[in-house]
Amino acid sequence: MIEVHLGDITRLHVDVIVNAANQRLLGGGGVDGAIHRAAGPELLEACRQIGGCPVGEVRATPGFRLPVKRIYHTVGPVWRSGNLGEPELLASCYRQCLNLARRENVHSIAFPAISCGVYDYPPELAVEIAVEQVQHHLEREGGPRHIIFCCYDDAMAELYRAQLDACVRR
Ligand code: APR
Repeated sequence: MIEVHLGDITRLHVDVIVNAANQRLLGGGGVDGAIHRAAGPELLEACRQIGGCPVGEVRATPGFRLPVKRIYHTVGPVWRSGNLGEPELLASCYRQCLNLARRENVHSIAFPAISCGVYDYPPELAVEIAVEQVQHHLEREGGPRHIIFCCYDDAMAELYRAQLDACVRR
């Protein structure tokens, strides 16, 4: 089941929340900052131990003070021109998080709009990729059945709803 939720991802009681991190994994602004503030200082220490994450990949930590089992830190592409591999790298973020969730027997996972803030990815293009990867995942066996797109503003939520409606009508 795919759900569009309008609100702060750090308030969700799910198995996993996904963080839109950077390659250093040492926190930042946006959703990264919110997650580190809510999870507490142990998260930064755990991220230091990991030592970084390439674009398009994911690294997992415990949830610490957040009401979640795990936090999946994924690094989205910075949008430049759209033909420097950005779509494939963004798709990889969703795919790798869902594959890891399958391996970790996760039931519910919440995604922010990866790369749609500081990394300047055009939201309508990013939402298409996000929905496509999640629908592809749900057609396969195993892995989380409850997927939440957690949006921080109504415009983003509307884009996800429109994309999901368009897929249903197909
Ligand atoms: N809950 C849910 N979504 C949020 C929250 C929150 N608390 N805070 C911000 N967002 C939304 C933004 O509105 C945007 O739609 O998350 C989306 C992703 O925006 P960013 O957090 O800016 O992430 P991104 O564009 O992937 O840039 C990553 O920003 O914060 C730094 O350290 C981070 O360098 C990395 C870069």
